[in-house]
Amino acid sequence: MSAPTPAGTALKITPLGDAIGAEIEGVDLARLDDAAFAQIERAWADHLVLRFRRQQLSDLDLMRFSRRFGALDRVPIRASDVMDHTDPRLAIDPEAREYVTIISNVKVDGMAIGGLGNYEAHWHTDMSYNDTPPSASLLYGIDVPPAGGDTSFCNMYLAYETLDEASRERVRGLTCVHDASRNSSGELRRGFADNDDPTHTVGARHPLVRVHPVTERPCLFLGRRRNAYVPELPLDESERLLDHLWAHATQQRFNWTQQWRQHDLVIWDNRCAMHRRDGFDDRHDRVMHRTQIRGTAPMRYV
Ligand code: SIN
Repeated sequence: MSAPTPAGTALKITPLGDAIGAEIEGVDLARLDDAAFAQIERAWADHLVLRFRRQQLSDLDLMRFSRRFGALDRVPIRASDVMDHTDPRLAIDPEAREYVTIISNVKVDGMAIGGLGNYEAHWHTDMSYNDTPPSASLLYGIDVPPAGGDTSFCNMYLAYETLDEASRERVRGLTCVHDASRNSSGELRRGFADNDDPTHTVGARHPLVRVHPVTERPCLFLGRRRNAYVPELPLDESERLLDHLWAHATQQRFNWTQQWRQHDLVIWDNRCAMHRRDGFDDRHDRVMHRTQIRGTAPMRYV
């Protein structure tokens, strides 16, 4: 645990990559004053993803720090073979059951305690299939494997700004439907029918280019590739356009990758950054607790 930050101290902020991400040192997130939080908020707007190492956070500490960014969003709908959040076998604070998402490959009595298992999670924006996706996600590493399970982030402002002019103009007026039926590892969520036809995708429809409500900068908003559909276009054109945008947005030059250590806390701006996760060896436990901050409906860029 870091020593408490004396009031008024400037935090040490070090960029982690050329495109996205910074580390903040010298702060204990369980005992944070308003002046330190104001610096964190500014750094977050500049770097989109922040990492804090060596944090000792209970679920309630995680929720308390998260609430500084806004009201908490409820946990997403779980896949069918994941233990229910209210199951007493889950080692989770009862007050956290509604708001702390467990991401883990650990099983108890043959039942997964959290989502995503040890699989790769494909590029996505958390809960983009909702009308009001979270503005932020905070992920805390409780148990991490010795290798694998790295999380990469990409900067969607840069993805938009570096598109060729014709594509930038074209996507401004278009929308996209974001598939709610499967999670980022491809597991079917409870209550959803299997579907492979993007024209029948169930999920929210959002602008392809959104304006960040705080920075007022435009960014690409792709959400998730599987079953995505641009309803203004015939299916084959929608597929071609989305393939082009995804190949552009996920280039290495817009990315930074977090290699987890136990007790790392990472927060990302879910409005202007996408993320993905590498798979890892299932013989090692990975237990992560995540909170989500309630967002607003994405604003179209005009
Ligand atoms: C997520 O997609 O929110 C999970 C990322 C991770 O497990 O590293």
